[in-house]
Amino acid sequence: MQSMTEKMKGFAETCSAAVKSRDFATAAKAATAAADCADILASRTVGIVAEAYAKDSASWRELAKKLISAVGKLPQSGDRPAVDSSGDVGKEWLLAEKPDVTFDDIAGMEEAKRVINEMVLYPMRSPEKARALGLNPGGGVLLFGPPGTGKTMLGKAIAGALESPFYYASGADLRSKWYGESEQRLSQLLNAAKAQPIAVVFLDEIESLLPKRNEESHAADNRVVTQFLADLGGFRDSKNLLLVLGATNKPWDIDEAVFRTGRFDEKVYIGPPDLAARRKILELNVKGASLAKDMDLGTLAIETAGFSGSDCAAVVAAAKRCALGRAIRDNADPILTTEDFAEAMRRIPSSINDAILAPYRKFLEERF
Ligand SMILES: Nc1ncnc2c1ncn2[C@@H]1O[C@H](COP(=O)(O)OP(=O)(O)O)[C@@H](O)[C@H]1O
Ligand SMILES: [Mg+2]
Repeated sequence: MQSMTEKMKGFAETCSAAVKSRDFATAAKAATAAADCADILASRTVGIVAEAYAKDSASWRELAKKLISAVGKLPQSGDRPAVDSSGDVGKEWLLAEKPDVTFDDIAGMEEAKRVINEMVLYPMRSPEKARALGLNPGGGVLLFGPPGTGKTMLGKAIAGALESPFYYASGADLRSKWYGESEQRLSQLLNAAKAQPIAVVFLDEIESLLPKRNEESHAADNRVVTQFLADLGGFRDSKNLLLVLGATNKPWDIDEAVFRTGRFDEKVYIGPPDLAARRKILELNVKGASLAKDMDLGTLAIETAGFSGSDCAAVVAAAKRCALGRAIRDNADPILTTEDFAEAMRRIPSSINDAILAPYRKFLEERF
């Protein structure tokens, strides 16, 4: 199936070939069809990308006009090459609304933020500058680490920070919704993204999408991996700027070839938050609520050593529930006290321990 940009390119080629052979009627039709494609692309995009397509469309129509006057005949809409909108598939994963998460809401993860800035945000915002340096913007970044460390959150923050279209799909969704045809779906998703001049694809829980291929694994799984590698291969050579982000809690379950073939240029380990990051997560989650004078989040940050980011958020939520219960009982203003947090710590265990971290250490040692 041809994407809309491929169609547009096809019409552009037809047009210039026809101009060369001085067949202005054919050239005018192709230019009009290219303009139609650009209009469709403009309607599917927003911001500077949509503007660029609208400009393309205007210049194609301008050219069509000149060509028509060269032959003295308007092309009839009936004999234009048909433009259908089969490129629409993949739209279901396009995030229409920007998530309200920002980089400032994310504690720690300095290395991940640096890589994302260098690989994603700067080149996506200034593709011309990147190219002037000989940098080929786009590529792949894989985020891996234990659950609850903010990988999905980071994906959302990237979507919020970029003007470009953002496609989000989780491996589990793709598989459960499209059981047996997830490779076509993933292919459509990637092609829809590739049809945009600039796009980011975030594949969450990528291990369930690209599981290890072996003799026992399902033929369907093997097809998905093979198709994915084929779809990703070559996007670097295209003029379009496509960035693929993958996130996983189980990097060792991903097919070897995904790593070997260099589809992910950067692999970033996202570990449990350190002391400063835990303090910031606690502060971010407490924000807006009243804290008792003797309540010290610095001490709580020390006590939550080994907790994941989502554990820290859960501790604050549990403390808030305690405080609410007391405020209702005592008919008083809700205030978070040391006792609320102590009770929350009894209720919320850390989800991360040495046994959970061990396979990540092993994976890091073996791979890097
Ligand atoms: N580094 C962090 N900074 C701020 N909040 C975090 C961080 N890590 C985790 N959290 C909290 O935990 C929740 C779950 O994180 P999530 O992104 O789903 O983790 P993952 O995708 O790595 O399993 C987030 O919505 C956020 O409230
Ligand atoms: Mg996640």
